[in-house]
Amino acid sequence: MTKKTAFWIFLLGTLSSAVLFLAATWDTHRQVETLSNVDKLSEQVVAGKRTFEKYNCNDCHTILGFGGYYAPDLTKVVQRIGADGIRYRVKSPELAFANSWRKMPNLNVSDAEIEDLIAFFTWVGEINNNDWPPQDSKKRLSRGEQAMVATVGVSPGAAVFQTKGCMNCHALNGTGGTFGPALDTIGRELSAAEIRTYVRDPKSVDPKSMMPAQTGLSDRELEEVAKFLSNRK
Ligand code: HEC
Ligand code: HEC
Repeated sequence: MTKKTAFWIFLLGTLSSAVLFLAATWDTHRQVETLSNVDKLSEQVVAGKRTFEKYNCNDCHTILGFGGYYAPDLTKVVQRIGADGIRYRVKSPELAFANSWRKMPNLNVSDAEIEDLIAFFTWVGEINNNDWPPQDSKKRLSRGEQAMVATVGVSPGAAVFQTKGCMNCHALNGTGGTFGPALDTIGRELSAAEIRTYVRDPKSVDPKSMMPAQTGLSDRELEEVAKFLSNRK
């Protein structure tokens, strides 16, 4: 290659990348208002953002990839654990994460501030971000979880249970969240069909249920997890 060819490759390469980059930037900015639902930016959402800053939640957590990498990304936290799940965790992290290897401090956030945070997380969760960043649902397994995998195996249903957030609230073999009941013997009480109905829409079975509807599961995943749980006897 002569010096001249190298120069032209450099020049054209740099220019075409720069043009692509600017076009993509312009295209994103053009869509920001629609992608981020600016019309839904209520005062409560703004108050929630201020609360998030006041307690420095992002020392440990990220939103849209910004913040600390110690704790889960909170971009889709409402979809993952629901408003009640957030209330419980922020109010009593020492209970919610009692079995976890990571700890979250109790920051004494007031009830009103928690409601503001939920409004903020709800707004953030609706931003159309092309599924970026990938959520922390497949978090690294703790030793207890590894023990669970060893005992219950990794059937498709067990995998759904572990990766689709059920373990945030439910325990099996002593591992998992404590917000919902442990499900070690759920198969004695509910059939696979009953579990399916319950998980899809808990309030249709029990209007007072604190479990958020699990809308993130495909029909196939729901079927697998219901089959898996109905065999826990
Ligand atoms: C010192 C670090 C730290 C701070 C500060 C912190 N958290 Fe956390 N938080 C954690 C850790 C660690 C976890 C995950 C525990 C686990 O699942 O093992 C967590 C989990 C959560 C969860 C559950 C996430 C999920 O996907 O299950 C929510 C919601 C949450 N935190 C909200 C907050 C809010 C709101 C604030 C600020 C008021 C905050 N956190 C401040 C460390 C922190
Ligand atoms: C945000 C927490 C949360 C998440 C996430 C969650 N659950 Fe629940 N679940 C609960 C709570 C709380 C209850 C108890 C309902 C009540 O009486 O308030 C419950 C109840 C249940 C029950 C009925 C138990 C019984 O004794 O009748 C089943 C089955 C169940 N959950 C399965 C699942 C599955 C499967 C997933 C994952 C796809 C899941 N849950 C995710 C909180 C949660």
